[in-house]
Amino acid sequence: MSPGDDPRALVGREAVLADLARVIADAWASFDKPRISEPELDPALGERFETPLPGPPGDSESALADAARVLDASVSPSRPLYLAYIGSTGLEIGVLASALAATYDPNLAVAAGGAELVEEQSLRWVAEFVGYPLADGAFTSGGMTSNLTALLAAREQAVPGARVEGLGGRRAAVYCSAEAHHSVVRAVEVCGIGSAWIRRIELDEERRMLPSALVGAIDADRADGVTPIAVIATAGTTLTGAVDPLDALADVTEPRGVWLHVDGAYGLPAAAAPSASALFAGLDRTDSATIDAHKWLGVQKPCSVVLLRQAGFLEAMFGHEERYMLHDHGLANPVDRTLEYSRPLNSLRLWMAFRVHGAEQYKAWIERTLENARELTRLVREHDEFELLHEPRLSTVCFRHAPTGMPAEDLDRHNLDLADAMQRDGRIYLAPAAVDGRSCLRVAFVNFRTTRELVPRVLEVAAELG
Ligand SMILES: Cc1ncc(COP(=O)(O)O)c(C=O)c1O
Repeated sequence: MSPGDDPRALVGREAVLADLARVIADAWASFDKPRISEPELDPALGERFETPLPGPPGDSESALADAARVLDASVSPSRPLYLAYIGSTGLEIGVLASALAATYDPNLAVAAGGAELVEEQSLRWVAEFVGYPLADGAFTSGGMTSNLTALLAAREQAVPGARVEGLGGRRAAVYCSAEAHHSVVRAVEVCGIGSAWIRRIELDEERRMLPSALVGAIDADRADGVTPIAVIATAGTTLTGAVDPLDALADVTEPRGVWLHVDGAYGLPAAAAPSASALFAGLDRTDSATIDAHKWLGVQKPCSVVLLRQAGFLEAMFGHEERYMLHDHGLANPVDRTLEYSRPLNSLRLWMAFRVHGAEQYKAWIERTLENARELTRLVREHDEFELLHEPRLSTVCFRHAPTGMPAEDLDRHNLDLADAMQRDGRIYLAPAAVDGRSCLRVAFVNFRTTRELVPRVLEVAAELG
């Protein structure tokens, strides 16, 4: 059959699938070891991205080959020495789950039969893994959406009917630490509270939200007629991995009837790791929690989870009746409990990863990334020309290169230039950051492919290029 005879079928379907399997296997093999540099995009290939919309059908072999080549020349968090921002391992099993979920393409907005069982069991498993007393929850497209979902539920609880009436001029506030992620700001803006009403609570010496300062802020707001909507704790701040003291925060929120959400998008999986679990004491007292499985649980984006300790709040916020979405036979549609409408079966990635690797393997992997951070911390401390900018609690380490004799006022520029040089060099992919106004190099160990032997390379390359 020539291209164009059948507008629907992919020509040579089985052969294309075999080609794809080879492309994926090659990519996985290239993830097994770090690269010595990042390849440049071939200019001839680059030019193909300037061509106009194709009219007649083309062949899938060249489309697949071009896609594979351009991705090979892209930055991939799956590589063992990708240590920037917060990446993921990109577990192989997640790729298989993605292919399968995309093939059947169920829509979790509506009753989807067996697919819902996958999502429900995955929610129970992830809650069990981190020790969360789950009553309700959903898979979402990211930590941003999970935080927003929880905040909308909290707003409806604090101001019933706000989803319909809006806040009607009522002053309301949200409390978080000075180190909370920007998604909290965005969520507060999107849900109509206004980011001017975020109370950034001061940090203690371990960069955690200070409960005594939180008490003062909530009580002062109440006395002033401002409605507290939620406290958003962070369990693993993006910058330094600080874990807010959940137990002490629950001691503040419970008697005051204020919703306590924990943004554990990055850090919450470490609650399952014996060496870090104590940091998360009080997690079972929080009203809701965010975990990104597409970060420290190693699966591909998008795969985030919002967990709630009590049922009913999500439905109070999102439940609706539409002419095209009737509740026949008393069946609730999943979209009555989610912010997003059409939802793919993203949970299949996590479900298959738990099935294949199991909780014990996951715990060992997470421990290994924590050990990598401790090892890098030790090496930074030992090295005369590097300095640590905070005490690492999880797997994030901020440090800077301070060559002997360099004036202090040059260190910010020097470290920004060094981060840039390291990204261009390609052996280690890390990102710059700033701690208390001081520019630095930031490393986040979440990739299970980063072995202990690779850790010293971070300082070797930084010292060489610095
Ligand atoms: C603590 C924290 N919360 C929320 C987010 C946002 O997550 P996402 O990018 O999945 O929307 C991040 C992202 O790094 C994060 O570190």
